[in-house]
Amino acid sequence: MDNIYANAGGNSRYKKLRRLYSGLRIVSMALLMILELLEWCLTPATVSARTNGLLAEQIAIRHRANRCRSSWQSHLHSCKSFLTRQLSGGNHVAVLGSGHLRDIDLRHLKRTFSRITLVDVVHPLEVQILALFSGGRIQLCSGDLSGALHLSEPSSHIALDQKLRSLLEGADALVSCCLLTQLALPIAHRWGKRFDAALVDAGVQSIQQNHIDLLESAPTAVLITDTAQCYGSEEWSPLLSEVRLPVPDQSWLWDIAPAAEHGLKGLGDEQRRVEAFAFGGRG
Ligand SMILES: C[S@@+](CC[C@H](N)C(=O)[O-])C[C@H]1O[C@@H](n2cnc3c(N)ncnc32)[C@H](O)[C@@H]1O
Repeated sequence: MDNIYANAGGNSRYKKLRRLYSGLRIVSMALLMILELLEWCLTPATVSARTNGLLAEQIAIRHRANRCRSSWQSHLHSCKSFLTRQLSGGNHVAVLGSGHLRDIDLRHLKRTFSRITLVDVVHPLEVQILALFSGGRIQLCSGDLSGALHLSEPSSHIALDQKLRSLLEGADALVSCCLLTQLALPIAHRWGKRFDAALVDAGVQSIQQNHIDLLESAPTAVLITDTAQCYGSEEWSPLLSEVRLPVPDQSWLWDIAPAAEHGLKGLGDEQRRVEAFAFGGRG
């Protein structure tokens, strides 16, 4: 008899603890959402970055990176060490799609270049503050690196804004890290609602090839990009259009999202193949 009562007591304590745990989870998720909303309101950004979802996506990436900190560690380390090896000097470096600068060794860039321009469609609040206190060495440029965000049709001529192009053509080195596959996403999503897939694919290919051509024409440039994706033990599928790229100088796998993180039913952990390219005459 005693035992039955002891078990009943244990069960109800367990249930209470479970209720407390799920209550705490709901409160912490609500707090996080309020924080993300506050950051969305407070970050200075263009109307286009807000309406295209790019600001929201950038804030979400920070939280995702925190949740996946241990599985991203080796990928971030590989990005930083490849960049550090390839960038050995010059006056002006421009980092394209700089975002939160997680995959960039900013200290190395500061030691190696006298002027650093960070280019992104929107700059996170902490990076805006960092630039403000950099004594002018870190400059921010807000611009569209796809050259297509404003275009209503995929068949229109796609090109970078002339001022942005001149700025990038004047730099000694360009860095593009984990940007290439992201560049066309928002506009392809918008075009996809009105145009057939072949037209949209042609627009995406043009955006990606223009970006590669820009890097190839720089005195020195580094491109690091994910090129394929795989869930669990399924087949790898390519992430880039049919673009012209040389053989990579290095490649590695990125454990980007455990199944619990991506939440897609029936699919295992998500991995990406990452390839790194060095163009031009290494500093
Ligand atoms: C996956 S993140 C790159 C990682 C980044 N280096 C970091 O550590 O956060 C992609 C970045 O590219 C930017 N981006 C996406 N599309 C862009 C566009 N059309 N023009 C300029 N920046 C863009 C995003 O705002 C984001 O900061």
